Amino acid sequence: MILNFGSINIDHVYRVARMPTAGETLTVKSYEHFLGGKGANQSIAIAKSGGTVRHIGAVGQDGDWALSKLNAAGVTLDNVARAQGPTGHAVITVDDEGENQILIYGGANHTLNLMQIEVALKGCTGLGHWVLLQNETNLTTEIVRQAKAHGFRVAYSAAPFVAHQALPLLENIDLLAVNALEAEALCTAMRVPLEALPVPNLLVTRGAEGAAYYVEGEAIEQPAFRVEPVDTTGAGDTFLGAFLAHLTTGNEADVALQFASAASALQITRPGATDAIPDLSEIERFLEERPA
Ligand code: RIB
Repeated sequence: MILNFGSINIDHVYRVARMPTAGETLTVKSYEHFLGGKGANQSIAIAKSGGTVRHIGAVGQDGDWALSKLNAAGVTLDNVARAQGPTGHAVITVDDEGENQILIYGGANHTLNLMQIEVALKGCTGLGHWVLLQNETNLTTEIVRQAKAHGFRVAYSAAPFVAHQALPLLENIDLLAVNALEAEALCTAMRVPLEALPVPNLLVTRGAEGAAYYVEGEAIEQPAFRVEPVDTTGAGDTFLGAFLAHLTTGNEADVALQFASAASALQITRPGATDAIPDLSEIERFLEERPA
């Protein structure tokens, strides 16, 4: 079981030919909204990859739509609270190359409380469970502290990257997941090379450049599958969710890496974050058709 303490966002997605420069006004080509949030994206990727995931978070009074999408994907929602204010949201511009820029408004994601964390952790007994978190909710320090006190292994997606938020958590992290930019920022902040980051397991996703998983500093490399990207929003979340689902159900790291690489390759070929996440059968078919 993976307990994911994560954000739930409504993503407002604007397609543009190119990103605007400072002070410029651009007319967009299209507008759509999708379910997103790094937390929700990762929960859905876990569930669709065959993992068992319980999401802990909060939505606002406008959150029914988001909850029904999470529920339909197979995510357990007993510990999602209903806050007074609005659900978190993101304003996302996606250009013709599929690259994005994202602004996030935390909203209900910043209303987690200590009791909610404790109830969720105490409600999951037995061995071998994981806690997953990102930087889009409040109480990240408390989540990690309580998770370790209850004997969980902790996976941390340090995104969006904020050095003073990430650094104090690292000593209690079993698996750290970062993209290339976050990895660089972290190494700069800690003044160490990647291999010397003080975490036992490190996943680095590099988009079209592939991914690497470091176990005690030793790297397993995974090249990216070549696909035509439409929208890369949520690709890293899909990779991490699929990887964790596979790894925590007993697969070797190299097998989990290849599986996750296929999941994120498929995800970027269609628009939206969660709507684009493939399910297990689609990922398996892709791997059969395109062996490494
Ligand atoms: O990682 C992509 C996600 O970042 C989007 O879905 C958006 O909601 C922001 O949280």
